[in-house]
Amino acid sequence: MTERSPLSDAPPRYTYNFCAGPATLPRPVAERIREEFLAHAEDGASIVEVSHKGPRFTGVLDTVETLYRDLCGLPADHHLFFMHGGARMQCSAVPLNLIGRSAARTAGYVETGLFAQQAFREGARYGDMRTVASSAATAFDRIPAVRPQDCPEGAAFIHLTSNNTVYGTRWTDFPQDVPAPLVADATSDILSRRIDHTRFGVVYAGFMKNLGPSGMALVTVRDDLVGHALPSTPRLLDYAVHARTRSLDNTPNTFALFVLSLMLEWVRDQGGLAAVERTNEAKAALLYGELDRSAFFRPTARPEHRSVTNIVFRLADESRTGEFVALAESEGFLGLRGHRTVGGVRASVYNGMPEDGVRALAGFLREFERLRG
Ligand SMILES: Cc1ncc(COP(=O)(O)O)c(C=O)c1O
Repeated sequence: MTERSPLSDAPPRYTYNFCAGPATLPRPVAERIREEFLAHAEDGASIVEVSHKGPRFTGVLDTVETLYRDLCGLPADHHLFFMHGGARMQCSAVPLNLIGRSAARTAGYVETGLFAQQAFREGARYGDMRTVASSAATAFDRIPAVRPQDCPEGAAFIHLTSNNTVYGTRWTDFPQDVPAPLVADATSDILSRRIDHTRFGVVYAGFMKNLGPSGMALVTVRDDLVGHALPSTPRLLDYAVHARTRSLDNTPNTFALFVLSLMLEWVRDQGGLAAVERTNEAKAALLYGELDRSAFFRPTARPEHRSVTNIVFRLADESRTGEFVALAESEGFLGLRGHRTVGGVRASVYNGMPEDGVRALAGFLREFERLRG
């Protein structure tokens, strides 16, 4: 691809989708999805038209399990489940499965933004949930320190959001010495960087950024945390049922799991997660470099806590945000409007966003400032 020509009258030659999720797929994955359906259009059944218990689909599951374990270093004593209802359903599943381990029915939550707050509110339906640290006072521009002494005694778990999609912050050093299993919502950074699963009791992630289509969640659970669900837990949210049935107790979203297998193969083909992480760091550095150079734009997260996947910024003259986003769109840069609760601008650069797209956006930022600044 060649560099685009920002602010021209000609229609854009390329379109880049910076949407926060559902998000752009790597091009080779989109092509393989098309092939899957075209190849079977006349001569048989595509992957969404065969039994989830048959060899073709269980082959997809084998690929997913083997590749996720290999690429992410998932230890043998951690289960890998696929559950319905996206990331938000895990806000219920986590307390339903774990709170019974706490005599006081208590757990801690780190408040770092919108999705952390949603997790807390849902958790509070099942126990005496406590906020153990928060960056609300500084408009979620950072990751707060978590001190073990602030965690409730006998807590069943401590919940955090490893990357904050709306505010564009992320954890680099996860809390040490917390007196309960750590649970991470990794929806917006799963498979974008290496993660040490041994530090976590549970990691969950909605599919629709780096894993595939929306509506499903990938959930890893350490073995000793399985089997403690409250009696009222819906069967399909019980981790023990997923462990027994390989997440095939009912029919899973076979298309989403097929796409996940392609996403994992794509990561493998890039050279693995460390290679993908390096590329993602380079993409983010390019955009932050452009934003830091300019007095026209203002990244909102503190530099040491900046997200690599959600780059959030504002225009110094905020009244021009609408003009910026509209012009960007007409130039082929889609999905840049900030989350409706915070405004501003957000460029989401998950695995599917090629480096060319990021370079083109950086060029657009420069040109916008030069010609309209
Ligand atoms: C960090 C985080 N958690 C949870 C969610 C909600 O995901 P879902 O719509 O799959 O429930 C999102 C959605 O963007 C998210 O970014």
